[in-house]
Amino acid sequence: MEPQRQEYFAGISDGVVIDGRNGSDRGFLPNGHSHALTKAVRVVSGTLPPMTNGTKMAQRDMDGDSSDEHAPRLNPKPAYSVLQKLRTITIGAGFSGMIFAHKLRYEHPEMEQIVDNTIYEARSEVGGTWLVNTYPGVQCDVPSHIYAFPFDPSPDWDRFYSTGPQIQEYIVRTVKKWDLDRDVQFNTRVVGLYWQEELSQWKVTVEHDGKQHDEYADVVISGQGFLNTWQWPRIPGLQEFEGHKIHSAAWDHSFDPTNKQIAVIGNGSSGVQILPQMAKAEGTQVISFQRGPTWIVSRMDPGKLLGKSNIGSNPVYTEEDKRKFRLDRESHHQYRRKLIHNINKAFRMVCTRETHASR
Ligand SMILES: Cc1cc2nc3c(=O)[nH]c(=O)nc-3n(C[C@H](O)[C@H](O)[C@H](O)COP(=O)(O)OP(=O)(O)OC[C@H]3O[C@@H](n4cnc5c(N)ncnc54)[C@H](O)[C@@H]3O)c2cc1C
Ligand SMILES: NC(=O)c1ccc[n+]([C@@H]2O[C@H](COP(=O)([O-])OP(=O)(O)OC[C@H]3O[C@@H](n4cnc5c(N)ncnc54)[C@H](OP(=O)(O)O)[C@@H]3O)[C@@H](O)[C@H]2O)c1
Repeated sequence: MEPQRQEYFAGISDGVVIDGRNGSDRGFLPNGHSHALTKAVRVVSGTLPPMTNGTKMAQRDMDGDSSDEHAPRLNPKPAYSVLQKLRTITIGAGFSGMIFAHKLRYEHPEMEQIVDNTIYEARSEVGGTWLVNTYPGVQCDVPSHIYAFPFDPSPDWDRFYSTGPQIQEYIVRTVKKWDLDRDVQFNTRVVGLYWQEELSQWKVTVEHDGKQHDEYADVVISGQGFLNTWQWPRIPGLQEFEGHKIHSAAWDHSFDPTNKQIAVIGNGSSGVQILPQMAKAEGTQVISFQRGPTWIVSRMDPGKLLGKSNIGSNPVYTEEDKRKFRLDRESHHQYRRKLIHNINKAFRMVCTRETHASR
């Protein structure tokens, strides 16, 4: 393509460039881009398409016309082309990173031809929260059937609420089943993100095996979670304490609690799960330090949703329940809908009189 044409072409809002080297205008673009293709072909053949807002702005940019100083300047380089995919970098391979990988690959398969996505994961396995938090009693407070990958909810949960290890096992199994870790680089931490104005790209500094290098991306997606860095509370003398000191977010499994005097500091979601586990270990004396009350929302009655009564707050699913969910996908779907509806209903309690009145 002639240089001027290539330049004009690059300014088209769809950002498509056709490589005419093999003489063909066809076969490069993914499905759903026929409109862009038509425009492109018309440009290549010299028939200019009517200008859209995008092309007008791009043309103005190239003409050096700065009459509208507030108009965004378009980068003349296309975001992607047949020769170069859009480069995305995802940080993290927890639920968020894996759901995004699934969306790119299965919900929008055409993206495979447009987007080159690399997932950097600091740890050596997928799972994020559920890989890392392994303290005694770790459990999810969202019902198992809806704390799930939306594209592959399991019919086989053992209980209404699941433990951390059960959720981690489900994540690993589902990621393997859908090959979602194909583009994950494990043991690789993102340590710097710098926007490069002149390139319209992110410079992403990653660290692997103690060595750093830079990668570049058009789009960075953060799936790094907001609960994965932890710190000790600032309590004078804590650092000098000579007994065994364990943080819930980095549990030391070599610690044997039996016959020990144990202080549990804090009564947040982790504290309330750890406390009973320490108390029931043999011969322990446990003190719970609480500086404020714990507020607990009354739970839904799991039995009601299953048409059963008196089955407790975390009942098991019977083999019959599981079989029904497995064989009758619609009933599984409806059951999950009921769960979500019940959870959403609970948000009414945070509505004030004013917000009710304004609805
Ligand atoms: C103990 C605990 C219990 C919880 N229980 C519930 C619950 O009952 N119900 C509920 O709804 N939510 C709960 N949560 C919240 C939970 O974090 C989210 O539900 C969900 O798992 C978050 O997934 P995520 O993929 O967004 O983040 P995460 O699971 O945190 O995953 C982030 C990933 O990004 C990686 N990462 C982070 N920074 C970098 C970096 N710079 N470079 C490379 N990789 C990086 C991490 O290693 C991690 O694998 C709980 C959280 C904790 C800590
Ligand atoms: N849903 C679940 O099953 C589950 C389980 C675990 C974690 N999580 C999630 O993970 C996140 C973190 O939860 P978390 O419980 O680990 O941490 P957290 O919510 O930050 O709770 C920390 C607790 O420690 C207390 N604390 C801090 N410093 C203290 C001090 N110096 N003296 C006495 N008490 C002190 C805090 O008291 P104050 O409240 O007074 O600050 C609070 O009770 C939350 O978002 C939570 O929802 C969820």
